[in-house]
Amino acid sequence: MSMLHPPALGRRGLARGAAALAALGALRGLPQAQAQAAPGRGTGPSTVRLTARPGRVALVGAPHPETAIWGYDGSVPGPEIRLRQGERLHVMLQNKLPQDTTIHWHGLRGPNAMDGVPHLTQPPVPPGGHFTYAFDVPDAGTFWYHPHARSFEQVGRGLHGALVVEEREPVLRVDRDLTWVLGDWRLLPDASISEDFDGLHDMAHAGRIGNTVTINGRVPDAPFAVRAGERIRLRLLNAATGRIFALEFAGHAPVVVALDGQPVEPHAPPEGRVVLGPGMRADLVLDMGGAPGQRFMVTDSFYPRLAYRLIDIAYADTAPLRADPLDAPARLPANPLAEPDLGPRAARHEVVLGGGMMGRLEGAELHGEHLPMRELLRRGLAWAVNGVAAAGHAQAPHFVLPRGRSAVLTLRNDTAWWHPIHLHGHSFRVLSRDGVPTRFREWQDTVLMRPRETAEIAFVADNPGDWMLHCHVLAHQSGGMAAMFRVT
Ligand code: C2O
Ligand code: CU
Repeated sequence: MSMLHPPALGRRGLARGAAALAALGALRGLPQAQAQAAPGRGTGPSTVRLTARPGRVALVGAPHPETAIWGYDGSVPGPEIRLRQGERLHVMLQNKLPQDTTIHWHGLRGPNAMDGVPHLTQPPVPPGGHFTYAFDVPDAGTFWYHPHARSFEQVGRGLHGALVVEEREPVLRVDRDLTWVLGDWRLLPDASISEDFDGLHDMAHAGRIGNTVTINGRVPDAPFAVRAGERIRLRLLNAATGRIFALEFAGHAPVVVALDGQPVEPHAPPEGRVVLGPGMRADLVLDMGGAPGQRFMVTDSFYPRLAYRLIDIAYADTAPLRADPLDAPARLPANPLAEPDLGPRAARHEVVLGGGMMGRLEGAELHGEHLPMRELLRRGLAWAVNGVAAAGHAQAPHFVLPRGRSAVLTLRNDTAWWHPIHLHGHSFRVLSRDGVPTRFREWQDTVLMRPRETAEIAFVADNPGDWMLHCHVLAHQSGGMAAMFRVT
């Protein structure tokens, strides 16, 4: 059974705060903290209909006009889809956009034919067309959905939504289960979206980073209302096309319980900052340990000179919900992921990311032909994977993995830029970074790589098909940082 929760329903925790960025310092709006009821609703299989279409949304709020967006059912974010682990996702997509589109189910380990990559796993859905996605969801966790056609534009215009798969048994007891879809927009002074999606400068640098950050499709202008003593599960999703977030919750000690949907040993985020590259998710347990009437700030300091206050946390004046603090949150039950064998039988491949400004790449191969950088730029490309620049989704595989074989990939960022590298069809363990073993060997579907960083990841290639591996800075992806691998 699948259920839709329009973001307008169950809205709670409205509050007054501020998150306008430099260029739009005066713009303001209303946040929506999506509140979800306890799991277990619904009675039978149902089809979710999602219409990708233009709409108008009060991103910034009065006195600014509404913003023309593209959204699922015309809203930003799209409706939150909720289902239970093991249930069948059944979505009928209707395309009412002026372009081809698809839906990719980011992080869900579904069958290849349902992966939503145009020309690779399905024909694109033309304007006026439709396509039905149906598959069983193996893993519980926080996932999301977005187009894979011109995603640098379509996601950036508002086509993105959260997909929450609830655990079979509610092991983690919380008072509220909330989702914050973090969005980033480049708005003009009239609150309309700047049309410069194809900008070469953005493409060859950090991507198209905006000037306006939203929580669930609104610039927060009211605080996040909480009650002393309550425990909140906060599902964070970075749906931005280029912006990286580093959130700090002053006065609070968030505990990370899942990354990219996959349970992780509960831990405090390093230096208290929850860092999320585009595409990434983190599930936090937040114990509201403040006193009635207190106020705190949530800030984003990823770009140090552009740190800003995202939203305030405001405690209600009512008495605490409980007298004693709760025990440390339980570890979420593991999802059924096969454990990679790191021994000599594993297939090992190097994946070198190259290109961009201030990089060493002098050229790359495109359709079998070596082209110098300036020629690549003329074609809107600036990035390469193992020396090959991708134009579009259909391409020869970079490597082929026999089904069931463990794979260890060494990802080498040979550029001056950050890249959240995403794999389709599989979650992987992050084994090491710059040769240092990671503390939690966390499962991820997207690994955020610093400039010049090397990361070692491992997974069992147990999902047959042609799968993308690409940067989730979507202007980098369209600018060539994409590859395909095949599991046979
Ligand atoms: Cu979320 Cu290939 O993408
Ligand atoms: Cu990138």
